[in-house]
Amino acid sequence: MPSAGPSSGPSSGTAAGSQAAPLMQLIYASRPFGFSGEILDDILMAARRNNKRDGLTGALICRADLFLQMLEGPRDKVTATFGRILRDDRHLEVSLVWSGDAPARLFGEWDMLDDPARSWMWSREDVRAGAMVRASAAEARAVFDRVAEEVG
Ligand SMILES: Cc1cc2nc3c(=O)[nH]c(=O)nc-3n(C[C@H](O)[C@H](O)[C@H](O)COP(=O)(O)O)c2cc1C
Repeated sequence: MPSAGPSSGPSSGTAAGSQAAPLMQLIYASRPFGFSGEILDDILMAARRNNKRDGLTGALICRADLFLQMLEGPRDKVTATFGRILRDDRHLEVSLVWSGDAPARLFGEWDMLDDPARSWMWSREDVRAGAMVRASAAEARAVFDRVAEEVG
């Protein structure tokens, strides 16, 4: 099983008490605004710095027409981070796809994995037609299960 427990990876050191806090996962979709390599680098740099500090892990699927992100970690940190992300003007139409308690992390080794779109994901037409917003929680979770499996 690739899922690492909360004791591995970036949560060591700081974030006192985070090990005991309930583990939560959250998935949202949004539409990039002003998508470029430079913007993406800035987003990922801040995400990794903050997530390391906050004991968060996750993955961000990035493409010109779509961000799809899973955040996982202590509930209070996930909620606070999502609050900042909601106010970020580098994307639009942020919609929560799923959030809930999780027994274990999927991306325990990753402060924030960035992942390109894959052929098995939604097409641009699907995304334009709102596939992300209509995706069931199970479908969205299955996308991240598959990404986690592929990065091993
Ligand atoms: C698609 C997207 C994903 C993001 N992911 C994260 C993240 O995982 N963690 C995080 O702290 N900030 C993330 N951010 C950035 C936040 O919106 C915000 O800019 C940042 O947390 C502010 O941190 P700072 O005050 O340390 O600069 C993301 C932004 C976007 C647009």
